[in-house]
Amino acid sequence: MASRFDIERFMEQSGAVDLHDIPWEDVPKYPLSDEALRAVRYFMTTESATFYYLRSLIQTKPAMSEPEFAPFLCAWAFEEEFHGRAFLKFMRAYGVKVDDTYRSEMYSHRTGSERTDEVGQFLLSMAFPEAWPAAHMAWGAIQEWTTYIAYNQLIERTGHPVLETICRRIMKQELRHFSFYFHQAEERLRESKVAQVLTANTLKVGWTPVGDGMSSKSDVAHALQFLFDGADGTVIATIEKRIRQLPGLEWFDLLSKYVAKNDIPAAPKSWFGPARVTGTASSASLIDVPLALMTNAAV
Ligand SMILES: [Fe+2]
Ligand SMILES: [Fe+2]
Repeated sequence: MASRFDIERFMEQSGAVDLHDIPWEDVPKYPLSDEALRAVRYFMTTESATFYYLRSLIQTKPAMSEPEFAPFLCAWAFEEEFHGRAFLKFMRAYGVKVDDTYRSEMYSHRTGSERTDEVGQFLLSMAFPEAWPAAHMAWGAIQEWTTYIAYNQLIERTGHPVLETICRRIMKQELRHFSFYFHQAEERLRESKVAQVLTANTLKVGWTPVGDGMSSKSDVAHALQFLFDGADGTVIATIEKRIRQLPGLEWFDLLSKYVAKNDIPAAPKSWFGPARVTGTASSASLIDVPLALMTNAAV
């Protein structure tokens, strides 16, 4: 189906995040708490897992039949790989030892539910070939938007200038990823009640926060605490507000439910770096930027 998203423009702009001028030697000059480093590692792992998710995605029929999916998935996976590499390089520049085998360790430790999801995704795509892409696109929109907001928070909470530069450049690409998934989901959900029901049920049964499955549950909880203040913060409401703009997902509250169910509280102030002079955009303000202005949507 034709999308309002300009795939040609996206493909022309796609590429590895530009880090040629990053002053890596300055990375250790700005101290980070152990909790901050743990959050950076979480996103190194999450970004580096994209290759694994691509494997299961390309087995689905829509990946082949939808004209925009194959080019997007190729560029998306390429860009995500370089996000993982950026965090890996940052960690090593800071002095953290990360073995080259970190990806195989992550893969061997993936949870059982991750394997079930992989099979379930394939079966659902076969059973509902027309409606399944909407569910997948909505899922992707949630994860990309969460990641975008997470990096805004990572900048705010670490106060590390080099990490900020890296995150800002990555965020531009995350926003373009989000735009693709969101526009695709929006159009497909608007056209089909079946797609709305399938998407809602798929999310309610199978969805977990971005990064879950490749990291331990305690690492997931830590990231949600460090970045979002868990159930005590306002950031999660911001994330959900955007997702509720999708047709049929006006109820979306799964991130709120996750942090409430797991008793994830606010992070202690001692976890954070120095307060930044200029301050990042508040997560609440990011939600109000018109989607068409901050993405390469063809509108
Ligand atoms: Fe990414
Ligand atoms: Fe992304």
